[in-house]
Amino acid sequence: MKKAFLSITVAVTLGLASLAAHAEPTVIKFSHVVAENTPKGLMANKFKDLVAADPALKDKVTVEVFPNSQLFDDDKVMEAMLLGDVQLAAPSLSKFQKYNPQLLIYDLPFLFNNMAAVDKFQQSEDGQKLLTSMEDKGYIGLGYLHNGMKQLSANKPLKTPEDAKGLKFRIQSSDVLAAQFEQVGGVPVKKPFSEVFTLMQTKAIDGSENPWSNIYSKKFHEVQSDITESDHGVLDYMVITSAEFWNGLDEDVRAALKKDMDEAVAYGNEMSTKKDAEDKQAIIDSKRSAVYTLTAEERQKWVDVMKPVWDKFKDTIGADLIDKALKANEG
Ligand code: SIN
Repeated sequence: MKKAFLSITVAVTLGLASLAAHAEPTVIKFSHVVAENTPKGLMANKFKDLVAADPALKDKVTVEVFPNSQLFDDDKVMEAMLLGDVQLAAPSLSKFQKYNPQLLIYDLPFLFNNMAAVDKFQQSEDGQKLLTSMEDKGYIGLGYLHNGMKQLSANKPLKTPEDAKGLKFRIQSSDVLAAQFEQVGGVPVKKPFSEVFTLMQTKAIDGSENPWSNIYSKKFHEVQSDITESDHGVLDYMVITSAEFWNGLDEDVRAALKKDMDEAVAYGNEMSTKKDAEDKQAIIDSKRSAVYTLTAEERQKWVDVMKPVWDKFKDTIGADLIDKALKANEG
């Protein structure tokens, strides 16, 4: 009897050991909506490569990347994450209003002078606090990723705010962006990124706003006759994961993944500067769309018309936070 019990114990132990040895690696699905040759696309692929080469994660984790809205659209990805259907995403900061309206700060027109100021605010204590501000909703921000400053596009030159009057502009799901276009008498239309090209092609919308890399990689310049270099706002990302998934990982795995993510984000940020300049030039060279850069005087008119949006959202975002973001423009 004792011998039989011993054999069963040995068999169970060996079985468990062999199961552990053959445990399937954790699969991390990284879903995003842009092309691979963009800051976000390049960052996601870099992360996948870093994880694959990381001895600390060997046989433990594999990353699968799904670009171009193959898996989920912007708005669906957040729900999918809570259901465990996807583990990583990097939505634009304009898509978090439902989860923390303070993040609308990044949409205020003409708030940041340039990407250096955006970066300075993101790295500040307040910027970092926003990364962990959605934990109660089930999301953890692992870092910010840059894309770049937004430019306006339409089928006519947009030099003055009056030029935008009556035009339908596709926007992301942010009320600040809606208010921004209402300020110039435009009609904002909230639509997912995956639909923008067709909406432009069929003239269901007249215009839009996006950084150079999104315009170029999605060929928006082929279906819009004019692009105005306005740098009127920023389009950046937050890399997010589900709190349940992240906190459920072994500590060593989590630490290794965070290290690889930091490296991938640094690479993506480096690429954002490069792609911004390269893709702007590629659009100009293509001659498919006329690129016009606002003079300082022209730009000031857009500032004057759009800036009242700050006031409309100062209670939602917090006047203090807006002041702190403005300080990032100094120095
Ligand atoms: C993205 O860059 O992820 C999409 C931006 C947009 O929806 O315009």
